[in-house]
Amino acid sequence: MRLALLGCGTVGSEVVRLLHTQSADLAARIGAPLEIVGIAVRRIGRDRGELPVDPAVFTTDPLDLVKRDDVDVVIECVGGIEPARGWLVEALRAGKSVVTANKALLAEDGGTLHDAAAEGGGDLYYEAAVAGAIPLLRPLRESLHGDRITRVTGIVNGTTNFILSAMDATGAGFAEALEEATDLGYAEADPTADVEGFDAAAKAAILASLAFHTRVGAADVHREGITEVTAADVISAKAMGCTIKLLCIAARGVAADGRETVGVRVHPAMIPLTHPLASVGDAFNAVFVEAEAAGQLMFYGRGAGGAPTASAVLGDVVAVSRNRLAGVRAASESAYADLPVRPMGEALTRYHISLDVTDRPGVLAAVAGVFARHDVSIATVRQGSGGGGVAGRGEDADLVIVTHVAPDAALAATVRALRGLDTVRSVASVLRVEGGA
Ligand code: NDP
Ligand code: HSE
Repeated sequence: MRLALLGCGTVGSEVVRLLHTQSADLAARIGAPLEIVGIAVRRIGRDRGELPVDPAVFTTDPLDLVKRDDVDVVIECVGGIEPARGWLVEALRAGKSVVTANKALLAEDGGTLHDAAAEGGGDLYYEAAVAGAIPLLRPLRESLHGDRITRVTGIVNGTTNFILSAMDATGAGFAEALEEATDLGYAEADPTADVEGFDAAAKAAILASLAFHTRVGAADVHREGITEVTAADVISAKAMGCTIKLLCIAARGVAADGRETVGVRVHPAMIPLTHPLASVGDAFNAVFVEAEAAGQLMFYGRGAGGAPTASAVLGDVVAVSRNRLAGVRAASESAYADLPVRPMGEALTRYHISLDVTDRPGVLAAVAGVFARHDVSIATVRQGSGGGGVAGRGEDADLVIVTHVAPDAALAATVRALRGLDTVRSVASVLRVEGGA
């Protein structure tokens, strides 16, 4: 089985190492030896440490490599939309099988890749694209195909989980925790994709597509990052017996006209310490799947890093290689349900709202009136002495309000109206609450 590897960085170089150290076992499992016939990179001369591969296989022309007749399987570990999309479409249309870790491309335009695979007759596997080493996509696209998945809730970004876990453990603010994540090599030099939720949103789109047999793209996902989460939010969460996590939530729902829908969102949320995802710390990932017959399932492990991600890539290489030797291909994309995507405003959530208000008679009634006018029911109200719960500033008070479940649009309108009250000095923070706290 002849392999073309595109990209030899963090993930690609570990794929090369694993292919070498496991070569005898992999050949026995597949029924044929695996051989790397080409590796495409950007800079041939880059120092890649001790790599067990003939330097002559390196090239800077990925397109030429994927077109070669002696390539059976293309492994893509480069990332990004273009030029990766062009290479993979070319490979798939030519009948090659593709294994990719590229969540950004799958979320942006997975349909084009699936169509090209169907056209060419090869396989398209991408276990590494979501939650790194965790076997998650195969269970969704195979093991659970006899069931009906109702909801997927996950922590799918290691960098932000490390940052939020550090804020929770040490009381650090976001900037300080991000600096620690960068120093330890978790956060990239440009952490935007992680901290603004783009990485998690891409993964959420892939999970939703598989769970609900519907093409869901990154643009369908409501996305909020963690840059606005403050140390005060973490303290508030603790006071409620909660912790803050960046969650991806994909769930079935029903529209006003009775049609079934799917809603997909990524945002920070408070979850109770008793929730299975609350104990997922450090840079780990975990995904909680709820299905009608199976009940609750939890997948946990390392969501990033060269070796863990390469493990998932190699698992896919074994699967597609076996299929090629047997002259079969895996079941094609399942998107028959074609459910409409629900707007975020229809999502049912709860809010935790911290207000800085003037402390005089009637303020609480005015605030409560805003909630009532928007048909949002208040679950609890806590009043502090002002100045963020520290010694009072005299005229001020802190109000912390937690709502019952309401449509997100009603909650957002409530917050807008609160900002307009002259007795509300500021809306200090707004966080969603998930998971039954
Ligand atoms: P790196 O940046 O470490 O490696 C990228 C590789 O692609 C490098 O070898 C680079 O070449 C090569 N490359 C970039 N542009 C081109 C180009 N135009 N032509 C040819 N080669 C090119 O990325 P990662 O290994 O971290 O990530 C690879 C993929 O895996 C991405 O899709 C990422 O989202 C995904 N992924 C990564 C995880 C991780 O933990 N790192 C986890 C899960 C998924 P050169 O070496 O010469 O610079
Ligand atoms: N940047 C990603 C993370 C890498 O932090 O989880 C894995 O996709």
